[in-house]
Amino acid sequence: MVQNYKWISYNSRKHIPPFPPGPYGLPVVGYLPFIGSNLHERFTEMAHRYGPIFSLRLGRKLHVVVNSMDLVKVVTRDLDQTMANRSPPLAALTISYCGNDIAWSNSNTHWRKMRKILATQVLSNTNLKSCQSFRSDEVRKLVKLRSLHKSGDGNDSSTIGDGFGEVEIKIMKLVEAPNISDFFPMLSKLCTVAGYTTPKGTIVYMNVWAIHRDPKNWTNPLEFKPERFLIDKWDYHGNNFKFLPFGSGRRICPGIPLGEKILMYILASLLHSFDWSLPEDEEFELSDEFGLVTKKRKPLTAIPSQRLSDAGPLNFLIEDYLSIYSYC
Ligand code: HEM
Repeated sequence: MVQNYKWISYNSRKHIPPFPPGPYGLPVVGYLPFIGSNLHERFTEMAHRYGPIFSLRLGRKLHVVVNSMDLVKVVTRDLDQTMANRSPPLAALTISYCGNDIAWSNSNTHWRKMRKILATQVLSNTNLKSCQSFRSDEVRKLVKLRSLHKSGDGNDSSTIGDGFGEVEIKIMKLVEAPNISDFFPMLSKLCTVAGYTTPKGTIVYMNVWAIHRDPKNWTNPLEFKPERFLIDKWDYHGNNFKFLPFGSGRRICPGIPLGEKILMYILASLLHSFDWSLPEDEEFELSDEFGLVTKKRKPLTAIPSQRLSDAGPLNFLIEDYLSIYSYC
């Protein structure tokens, strides 16, 4: 049966450039029964076998996976407009008013307007500055660590923040459940990538995980060496194709100005205020699990012990300091 499917696919395509190489699957379900759970790892193994661009069918959808800096550049620059649509799964359609929110909408006038409002009204410098005291208050609460204890078992929804967080986690689980790869851009018309045919409706997956771990791009990529980011000026705004934490191209994350403030502020405050240790008998390990956001497979438990006698008023505009630093 598999051989037969292979023959039919080949013959129906013989007049156009081939699809990218890749594993054959079964009729109807494609490669879905064989793919397993950790897509980023499976895709990286497949890239070693089939090359930097390969294709596979998951259910009825053709997926093309690009695994190199050069090809990500082609997808997000040269073919940016063609590649900027989405193919939301049912759960995402439900929570986004039929794909009408900013993350699940196709690339159209409505989506452009939403991005513009988010960038110019919600995340403008003036707005972010005027909300700084709210962020500082939240971090101050966190540093006092009462809120951490309260929400430790995940059942205490006594604050709006906790309740919101829980809903967010539930939504993420629902959206991830059917087919995570649906989040990635969908092609709006037939095109050719690296000499291969990529038909309309193909889901294109940019395997940034593989690029971030490729020894061709990074020296000893698996070594924890944060200082490597201090040596050069690191651009994470989608122009440096070996480092794409926020994506690239027209669907690049619009939340960078807020993300960089919050992340550095929280992390710096927690490191400044506490010494951190692992529970006894717990080993430090970093295995991860694929999802809408890749996360640790085993949640980390870290024990804080206070470094500063007065950890509360850590609110000395560290956020301002960090944002100045990050732009230097
Ligand atoms: C460090 C924190 C963050 C990281 C690492 C991050 C990363 C990402 C990534 C990788 C994407 C997908 C880009 C693509 O499809 O090519 C994305 C999309 C998005 N992010 Fe973020 N993000 C962060 C914080 C934020 C924040 C704070 C906001 C909101 C204020 C936000 C709002 C969005 C939205 C609306 C999209 C969808 C954009 C679109 O499809 O047009 N993000 N983010």
